[in-house]
Amino acid sequence: MKKNILFVFVSVMLFLTACDVDPKSSRGFSLPDGDVLKGQQKFVKFRCNDCHIVRGLDEVNEVKEGDDLIMTVPLGGKTTRIVTYGELVTSIINPSHKISQRYLSTPVEEYGRSRMRNYNELMTVEDLIDLVAFLQDQYELEPVSRTYYAVY
Ligand code: HEC
Repeated sequence: MKKNILFVFVSVMLFLTACDVDPKSSRGFSLPDGDVLKGQQKFVKFRCNDCHIVRGLDEVNEVKEGDDLIMTVPLGGKTTRIVTYGELVTSIINPSHKISQRYLSTPVEEYGRSRMRNYNELMTVEDLIDLVAFLQDQYELEPVSRTYYAVY
């Protein structure tokens, strides 16, 4: 009887791990370390700040005369969960994959597509790595403070 339970358990585990191996899975994805400062310069060079403000970084948010600010989608700041490389890379090279639901007051999509500019033909892989390093540095992980209720 015990053997049967073990067999069922092992089969279920094998089935579950097999499901995980999708050819499009992000398993094995890893980026080399980028340069945060270069990333910041590139953020301005690519005019990401036409549409984004970076919380707490005034030198990036300064709008020069003649620049047109299209929208002010905020990036960075306090977060309760780690913002991963995978999420940031996807946000930059495939923005419509998952439209952020954080900006309900800004019309961030049109017909299900992100209003973010497409940079895939303009950016080198190094630019992408530096931008991701810069962006990740802007998020501050804040532990969730739980509310404890008295027993009643
Ligand atoms: C024309 C406007 C525009 C430009 C330019 C732009 N973005 Fe965006 N970006 C958006 C919008 C709108 C969103 C929110 C919708 C979405 O998730 O795609 C967004 C979302 C993002 C997100 C995800 C934020 C989140 O909370 O999930 C990242 C990261 C990002 N942009 C980085 C960049 C970088 C880096 C550049 C420059 C290389 C850039 N953006 C240029 C409009 C823009």
